[in-house]
Amino acid sequence: MSFGFKGRALRSAAVLAIVGALGTPAMADEIFYVSGAVGNAVENFANLVKPWEEATGHKVTMVPMPASTTDQFGQYRLWLAAGAADIDLYQTDVIWAPQLADHFLDLTEVAKDLAPTHFPSIIQSQTVNGKLVALPIFTDAPALYYRKDLLEKYGVAVPKTWAELTVAAQAVQDGERAAGKGDFWGFVWQGNAYEGLTCNALEWIKSFGGGQIVEADGSISVNNPKAAAALDTVKGWVGTISPEGVLAYQEEEARGVWQTGNAAFMRNWPYAYGLGNGADSAVKDLFGVTTLPVGAEGDTSAATLGGWNVAVSKYSKHPDAAISLAMYLAGPEAQKQRAIAESNLPTIVALYDDADIAAAQPIIPQWKDVFLNAVPRPSAPTLGKYNEVSSKFWSAVHATLSGDGTAADNLAGLEADLTELKGDAW
Ligand code: GLC
Repeated sequence: MSFGFKGRALRSAAVLAIVGALGTPAMADEIFYVSGAVGNAVENFANLVKPWEEATGHKVTMVPMPASTTDQFGQYRLWLAAGAADIDLYQTDVIWAPQLADHFLDLTEVAKDLAPTHFPSIIQSQTVNGKLVALPIFTDAPALYYRKDLLEKYGVAVPKTWAELTVAAQAVQDGERAAGKGDFWGFVWQGNAYEGLTCNALEWIKSFGGGQIVEADGSISVNNPKAAAALDTVKGWVGTISPEGVLAYQEEEARGVWQTGNAAFMRNWPYAYGLGNGADSAVKDLFGVTTLPVGAEGDTSAATLGGWNVAVSKYSKHPDAAISLAMYLAGPEAQKQRAIAESNLPTIVALYDDADIAAAQPIIPQWKDVFLNAVPRPSAPTLGKYNEVSSKFWSAVHATLSGDGTAADNLAGLEADLTELKGDAW
């Protein structure tokens, strides 16, 4: 089969390469791992898997996929439906487990000692009808990144409500533009029509008291005045404190503007923290992180729960080596390496007390409570239909933010579409 990756032929060649300790020849496998990536994930992957390759004699090839989780999902679903045997492991988004469960091996037994070292809720999110379909490698919950130096320069406090953020962003933007920085923006986030917009919009709506699209009991709650008020607020940002182009931004576009020093605030995941403090960053040591704002005083901040896992394809020709790699990637050594090198939040409880991690990436211990209280997207209640639910949701939000229909009308239309999609039951 053809994968269309430039310069990279996927093949699953097993060669006799290492001799075991007792002189028994062992098979060294070439393992293929497909993964989307943001930031320095591709770069770090070779370092991450090196100890496992050395210990086992196997070789891992990462097949990089588009950064958008939506694009990855579309491709993986096709490969899995076709029973693609050339891919051994898939890096999977936290929301995919119910939809892809049938294609992955059950890791319950092999991970029976490792799984209890992880946060139970995360293991639970990857368990479908009693089957552990993927092992968590990192969790995710966004931060509001803010420029400490600029808030100080303009005498602006760290905002607690979205209204305060709007005012603060405008003040810093006006000041920086007057000082000659024509490209400077108040607030950057992810407005492209994809899963990332679902994450952002869930945060706006939930923090305005407007629910979580589809509730845990399966009821469709999204068509309500608080949700509409949230979207109206955000619409007011487009072209004022946020560039018109934000409606095409994913994580990396937002980080690009932020890390070159051209934004006062950014909504992004923790991976942007380490990179923002990198040697080549214009905002190194100049920023802080806090929780996302609330709709009004008395509302609670909402962070969408993200995160990534590793699943072993049931079509893999090297299931033993693939399972061994999955266990390694979900284990403490790899999670610690990833935490330090990529500022990804571990899913192993003990790593939140690790001094090396805390020293290298202070956001990690600070973010434990944020992800533990994060809001899940409705992938569990909507089962196999989550992808369609999300795509209808982000489309309605994107239309609203683009000026195509009012929030109230678009949410009413969304409710009708979701009701039809649901039928008698999700
Ligand atoms: C992050 C999250 C993931 C989410 C994605 C949206 O990668 O970890 O769960 O779906 O962002 O863009």
